Amino acid sequence: MKIERARLRDADELIKLEAKCFKMRYDRDFIYFWKPLILDAYVYKAVEDGKIVAGILAFATRSPRAVYVDSVFTSTAFRHRGAATKLLERVERDSGCQKIILDTMNQFREAVKLYEKLGFKKVKVLRDYYEDGTDRLLMVKEIGR
Ligand SMILES: CC(C)(COP(=O)(O)OP(=O)(O)OC[C@H]1O[C@@H](n2cnc3c(N)ncnc32)[C@H](O)[C@@H]1OP(=O)(O)O)[C@@H](O)C(=O)NCCC(=O)NCCS
Repeated sequence: MKIERARLRDADELIKLEAKCFKMRYDRDFIYFWKPLILDAYVYKAVEDGKIVAGILAFATRSPRAVYVDSVFTSTAFRHRGAATKLLERVERDSGCQKIILDTMNQFREAVKLYEKLGFKKVKVLRDYYEDGTDRLLMVKEIGR
């Protein structure tokens, strides 16, 4: 599995994979969000046999020290092989950031476990945050550099 910077032509494949992984409806208008980010943010893909099997989207924040991970996802057939770990490590390395911020939900157990393993700490729970009443969980990894 190779980790590479995403290119503009990857946008639609990434949007479709993200929708599948999060069990969301595919919305082709997401292209207007993803394309500029591919040019300007930290967007990487994990590729196996020419196919995108995982992706990450992260961007700069108000703080020059911190990067925010908006989305990370791995195709079900390729889970537990280190794709998300490698993608997160790549963002950490390439951005040179001192802090990675992300949010998730407690019910994404796989994700929370993985983030904790990678050194993220739970910093805040925003109760009843989403429309369906689920909580938003903020997690942060401090990188000592
Ligand atoms: C969360 C998600 C991105 C993880 O992706 P992944 O590529 O399977 O993640 P990794 O393989 O890096 O790590 C997952 C587990 O595999 C283990 N692992 C990593 N490399 C491994 C390897 N080479 N061999 C075996 N296991 C490995 C990790 O230690 C981790 O272990 P855990 O079960 O203790 O957590 C994926 O489950 C997903 O897309 N879920 C749906 C979307 C989602 O919830 N995204 C996050 C929302 S905040």
